[in-house]
Amino acid sequence: MSAPLTATAIAHPNIALVKYWGKRDVAENLPAVGSLSLTLDAIRSRTRVRFEPGRKGDHVLLDGREDQAAALRVSACLDLLREAAGVTHGALVDTDNDFPTAAGLASSASGFAALVTAAAAALGLRLPLHELCRMARIGSGSAPRSLFGGFVLLQPSPDGDVGVEPLLAPDSWPLRVIIAITAAGPKAMGSRAGMAASRDTSPFYSEWLRSHPADLRAGRRCVEARDFPALAELAEASCLKMHAVMLATRPPLIYWSPATLACLQVVQALRRDGVPVFFTIDAGPQLKAVCEPAAAATVHEALAAVPGVVRLIDSGLGPGAHCIDD
Ligand code: DP6
Repeated sequence: MSAPLTATAIAHPNIALVKYWGKRDVAENLPAVGSLSLTLDAIRSRTRVRFEPGRKGDHVLLDGREDQAAALRVSACLDLLREAAGVTHGALVDTDNDFPTAAGLASSASGFAALVTAAAAALGLRLPLHELCRMARIGSGSAPRSLFGGFVLLQPSPDGDVGVEPLLAPDSWPLRVIIAITAAGPKAMGSRAGMAASRDTSPFYSEWLRSHPADLRAGRRCVEARDFPALAELAEASCLKMHAVMLATRPPLIYWSPATLACLQVVQALRRDGVPVFFTIDAGPQLKAVCEPAAAATVHEALAAVPGVVRLIDSGLGPGAHCIDD
């Protein structure tokens, strides 16, 4: 059967509980550390890929607009798929996100997971999962995590690559995530440039690398035991350790807004009062509060009252990337 040449896929952003920051190999986009994430269900990237025989180059639309920087990364990723399929066709790629792009909500993770899933289907490729992960990772270090649902572990493997392991399906431990959006514009410095600056200048970077494997092992244990209090403590520590590396980078990477800190303090106060919730923050000013289902309404209400919170997204855990009908 010949390849359909067109396919559409959906992938959901993921939120890291044990963070990834830094690269071991920039050209291969190999993360310097592993990570542990959960995949969301309330927000998504949808990507349509159409390969056209005879077409030179790729045309990339992101939320309806041409984006030169995104196009280069998309083409690098598509080159790997074209090579695997033995074709040279250029592609039309149309991606839309139903959430703010490049604002610390993992749009590159869901975007590249959807891209490789759609492109592989369009080319009729049945790739081993580790190959698909490698191709997604070339696009973005956190993208392989969005290929899977629920809790996902991304771990450096002895051969120098990274392995991806789904730990728990979404319904095995159905936590809730409340995202407090405090500013919807793109972040001041993208993760890629930020990671390079941290490696070159942050005095805490080497300690981050040294202590990370123990955090990852602890993260696996917490998830496998469904131990919420231990996961809460670990995830907040990993988040703050990453932000300490960022803050000590020159020039400093300060991704928080005053409202981010206000949300963090609200989450801390809730937990002190016995509410099962913890925070995590990525390379942007949004705060993600992870909680047990029964606490979701309380957490939502408390974050909604924080001045500077412009929107809240309530999410459960979602599935991995998959194709949908065109
Ligand atoms: C702070 O995956 O966006 O969100 O590999 O350069 O695309 P690239 O970086 P990216 O970095 C994510 C960093 C983070 C923490 C995390 O998600 O683990």
